[in-house]
Amino acid sequence: MIIPIKPWLDLANDKSTHLARGVASQDGGLILSADPEADEFRLGGVGYRNLYAGGFMSDRMDFYHEPIMGERILEALEPLEGKQVFDGTLGGGGHSRMILENGGFVIGCDQDEAAIEHATERLSRFEDRFLPVRGNFAEVDDLLGHHGIDKVDAVVLDLGVSSRQLDDGTRGFSFREDAPLDMRMDNRSDLSAAVVVNEWSEDELIRIFREFGEERRARRVAAEIVKARAVSPIRTTGELAALVEKAVPRVSGKHPATRVFQAIRIAVNRELEVLEIALEKAVSVLSPGGVLAVITFHSLEDRIVKHFMRRRSLPEVDRPEWPEPRPNPDFAFTLPFRKAVVADPEEVARNPRSRSAKLRIAVRN
Ligand SMILES: C[S@@+](CC[C@H](N)C(=O)[O-])C[C@H]1O[C@@H](n2cnc3c(N)ncnc32)[C@H](O)[C@@H]1O
Repeated sequence: MIIPIKPWLDLANDKSTHLARGVASQDGGLILSADPEADEFRLGGVGYRNLYAGGFMSDRMDFYHEPIMGERILEALEPLEGKQVFDGTLGGGGHSRMILENGGFVIGCDQDEAAIEHATERLSRFEDRFLPVRGNFAEVDDLLGHHGIDKVDAVVLDLGVSSRQLDDGTRGFSFREDAPLDMRMDNRSDLSAAVVVNEWSEDELIRIFREFGEERRARRVAAEIVKARAVSPIRTTGELAALVEKAVPRVSGKHPATRVFQAIRIAVNRELEVLEIALEKAVSVLSPGGVLAVITFHSLEDRIVKHFMRRRSLPEVDRPEWPEPRPNPDFAFTLPFRKAVVADPEEVARNPRSRSAKLRIAVRN
């Protein structure tokens, strides 16, 4: 796969203009290449801080892990020196690394064993400024408490699956490759995509396809699945995608199974439920002035974050039956921006995944 090198390769604070070509390696690394087909980018001059201060020639940079809206998150956390940050979605370690390189301490949490292993190796040079913890960010209070940490200065969540998880052909997150129906971020969980698809009732399937996938043909997809599994269990992503294709006509460029796969992944990992729990817990683990930064990738998640932050940032509440507004017992945050922050066009061009990302920030009172 040929991938353009990103224009923040003016890393060594060298503002000169470079021209380079890059190819992503199988394991997500970036290999410099003289491949004549590689896209070209004029690099330099954009003034990024230590997004990747390690330098890219010497320290093989993971293309996958350009932290989404990294610069905006750094701004929100500034000054970072000495701050303790709970990165609830460690993934490839992109955000953590950026925070560490700018003087912060990171408690890096992921429920995915492979992500923890990979990021731990990648961030080992930060020694005791980086603490990896395997677990669900919904248990943020216990995870911190276990290490004797009561409060942190920031909680960062970059939701969803990582590119590494999506591209791992064995984990069943994508229908691009035929794989066993799994989709668990945490392989200790008993609930896999195979269980949802083969064991959940038709009504439950309709509900998740509608609620989590916003799939208009939820009923037809569920009926198709129930019919097929009565003959033999549905075992792979390829089989499932083919069934969905029977029920949902292909209209746009998007594969008709995209929404159904999203719905099943959300159900398997209880993604919306754990997000709601984590947001509430962030209130108690953040120090005064602490920052909550959440990046979402679809409207279901963003709605939850938006409503939470609104409700928690109103100093007063009013009801028609009350003579006057009353203090809001849930008042906990101030919002520096009313709207979600989105990636700028340059970032979207470098990293298409950032196109649908929304960042919301709240500061603990
Ligand atoms: C989009 S990636 C994060 C990428 C990371 N910020 C970076 O810059 O490399 C999301 C990661 O969060 C993890 N994750 C998602 N939900 C989680 C949860 N509830 N608890 C812990 N980890 C979670 C996934 O396993 C995945 O590795």
